[in-house]
Amino acid sequence: MKTGKLIFTASKLALAASLLMTAGSAMAAGIADTRHNLGSGGGVNAVNSFSGTAEICVFCHTPHGADTSASVPLWNKTLAAPASYTTYDTLGTSSLDGATAPVGSVSLACLSCHDGSQAMDTVLNAPGSGATVASYSAGTWTGPAATTTPVGAITNSIVNLGKDLSNDHPVGIQYGGGNLTAATPAAATRDPDFKTASNQIINGNTIWWVDTEATPNGTRQKTDMQLYTRTVAAIDGGASQPFVECASCHDPHTTNSTFLRVSNAGSAVCLACHTK
Ligand code: HEC
Ligand code: HEC
Ligand code: HEC
Ligand code: HEC
Repeated sequence: MKTGKLIFTASKLALAASLLMTAGSAMAAGIADTRHNLGSGGGVNAVNSFSGTAEICVFCHTPHGADTSASVPLWNKTLAAPASYTTYDTLGTSSLDGATAPVGSVSLACLSCHDGSQAMDTVLNAPGSGATVASYSAGTWTGPAATTTPVGAITNSIVNLGKDLSNDHPVGIQYGGGNLTAATPAAATRDPDFKTASNQIINGNTIWWVDTEATPNGTRQKTDMQLYTRTVAAIDGGASQPFVECASCHDPHTTNSTFLRVSNAGSAVCLACHTK
């Protein structure tokens, strides 16, 4: 018995070690190996790269002096006014149920590059000491960004969404047509054609997400569809509730194709939320 148990433990250890190694290599293949590595040191930088720094996070985040006009983590760029975008609801599809809020938080963050209006090296806090400048002075762009106006703005193709979001999947939209609030976090959504969202209270705020596992595990992971809790005075009396934003479907740090939280094979991204 005792020997058997020891062997079992040893194989468990071996398994744990190989899992650790897998986790290690998964970590190695991170944002550095994606098109979101805009610095000079990246691997896929034929797309767009800036010679002014080998840092990665700085194009998006700063440890100090971040933009706080929306609840985006330590954002290192100026966010545009929500009202400067044309939203999906203006298309007037008669099937739309959810109320549309002004373009929110993380969507504004993505759009601070993906609307093509500002250079990607325009940051609030440049790398180094005391460098609160409009853009890095020493550096040039390689790739499409070198030929855009302004120089360093995202290339003019489908990756440049522009200011008109009426041809894009709705963002700043209530999940499931609404009805989930902090007071009734597990209520049925007004539109029944949506998957049930999980919820949890973190730091006193109710947050929601949609599990992507075949059997929902009720634990928020970065491979789940994230919903963003917002309170919008004009919607349901300012009740705090979940909205879909760009990063509901996308994780800007993942190495998955087109930065999707999960592979979209079989339209798994779409079917995570829509019951179709
Ligand atoms: C292309 C822009 C971009 C780059 C580059 C980037 N991030 Fe982010 N990051 C974001 C956005 C947008 C969010 C908010 C997304 C969300 O809600 O999941 C975020 C969220 C985060 C979060 C909080 C949510 C989470 O996923 O844990 C952390 C921590 C973070 N980033 C760390 C980093 C670090 C460290 C780097 C550099 C190695 C980095 N990021 C590079 C855009 C970026
Ligand atoms: C600092 C600027 C910047 C920010 C902020 C940013 N991106 Fe990007 N993103 C880029 C660049 C540059 C590319 C590569 C463009 C190209 O292929 O020409 C890119 C590419 C992409 C692509 C296409 C990838 C592919 O393989 O085709 C997706 C999807 C994307 N970004 C989503 C997002 C989302 C979602 C956010 C916010 C969570 C975000 N990005 C924030 C700069 C940015
Ligand atoms: C409801 C889910 C969802 C939301 C919300 C969403 N996207 Fe996407 N996005 C996708 C999927 C799925 C793809 C991959 C499309 C494909 O493979 O053709 C994609 C592709 C992209 C691409 C690459 C386009 C290309 O063909 O190269 C960019 C850039 C992008 N998204 C940016 C954004 C930004 C910025 C926002 C917010 C304004 C956003 N997305 C909101 C699901 C979403
Ligand atoms: C994070 C959850 C989520 C994901 C993932 C998602 N959607 Fe949606 N989608 C919504 C919400 C919420 C609405 C707004 C529905 C409403 O209010 O009627 C919406 C709206 C739409 C609409 C417009 C409906 C209308 O009446 O005008 C279409 C079409 C759509 N989604 C297709 C897709 C496709 C295709 C995908 C995959 C690429 C996808 N969705 C992924 C949540 C999601």
